Amino acid sequence: MRILSVVGARPQFVKLAPIAKAMPGDAEHLIAHTGQHYDHNMSDAFFADLGIPQPDFNLGVGSGTHGEQTGAMLAGLERIITETVPDWVLVYGDTNSTLAAALAAVKLHFPIAHLEAGLRSFNRRMPEEHNRVLTDHAADLLLAPTQVAMDHLACEGLAERAVLVGDVMTDVLYRVRDEVAGNPLALSAPVEPGEFYVATLHRPDNTDDPARLRAIVESIAKVGKPVVLLAHPRLRNVAERHGIELGTGSIVVSEPVGYPQLVNAVAQSAGVITDSGGLQKEAFLLRVPCTTLRPETEWVETVDLGWNVLLDKDFTALPGIVERPRPAATDTSPYGEGRAAETAVRALAERG
Ligand code: UD1
Repeated sequence: MRILSVVGARPQFVKLAPIAKAMPGDAEHLIAHTGQHYDHNMSDAFFADLGIPQPDFNLGVGSGTHGEQTGAMLAGLERIITETVPDWVLVYGDTNSTLAAALAAVKLHFPIAHLEAGLRSFNRRMPEEHNRVLTDHAADLLLAPTQVAMDHLACEGLAERAVLVGDVMTDVLYRVRDEVAGNPLALSAPVEPGEFYVATLHRPDNTDDPARLRAIVESIAKVGKPVVLLAHPRLRNVAERHGIELGTGSIVVSEPVGYPQLVNAVAQSAGVITDSGGLQKEAFLLRVPCTTLRPETEWVETVDLGWNVLLDKDFTALPGIVERPRPAATDTSPYGEGRAAETAVRALAERG
């Protein structure tokens, strides 16, 4: 069995790590990196820290508009798929790299498996929502992380192609959590364990409107403990362009950190403020309260279980929400037990 994994952006490297580890010895696993993320701490650091084999191909497409970026990937991936003749093109999550790989493969009549299939925000302003819907409908095998995702696929007539495998980010999170357990706090910011929050902000809907971004930053600045803001390049660029000072009030601005440092920091934090999909779930799995700056979430279980609160407007309420009492303890595991990658790889072998 020859599998071509296509990745390009930070969260996809995290998902690739457990899949690469779970590949059986008789499988040939090739990795194509589109180059969507290219800064060292957005890309290479993840391969090194998570022990992911170096990519066999790197298209180096870099940044651009959706059309430029996706188009460049499409042309490059077509060449790679034709050259490698894989039994499966395995695509991850919902970025432009995911959609480009799915489009390239479906046009060439190569089987596509979509890992993290069936997630829906039902928010058509999100580029990820188009990417995941289009990818699911192009794919032959839909590897779903949750029962809710399975239900969405069934509603769209895709039940026959869907398999519930669990969430591979849970696999890697549990492994890294155990590896970093007991390590001192790995942040360069001057903060004490339990006495700070971790924040990330990168979605265009939050960053690209200066008035909204300013309101969010002003409200985070009023939180009663230091907030370490791991600033994505998109956020830094937009803030600089509009003269918005990020390092104000409680906010301590930091570079994005690697995955082990992130897990170490979140586990020792008082809570998380984010608009990232993955981080909401990681906070829940580490049993750290999360406040999500979005109108909806794909990971609805985190909200239903009381560990995640959504906030989309009236950001003056943010400090009170972030500093709310700790939610009720739960041992529910809606994202699986940390063995999803093995199940996913088995599904590929059975259906390949
Ligand atoms: C992308 C994904 C998003 C995912 C996120 C994780 C799409 C449409 N979006 O968003 O789903 O949650 O990755 O981080 O695919 N930049 C750099 N260096 C880099 C990468 C990006 O400076 O290594 C800057 C560039 O100015 C670029 C901007 O960040 O234009 C945005 O990067 P892009 O890959 O277009 O989207 P993300 O916001 O990272």
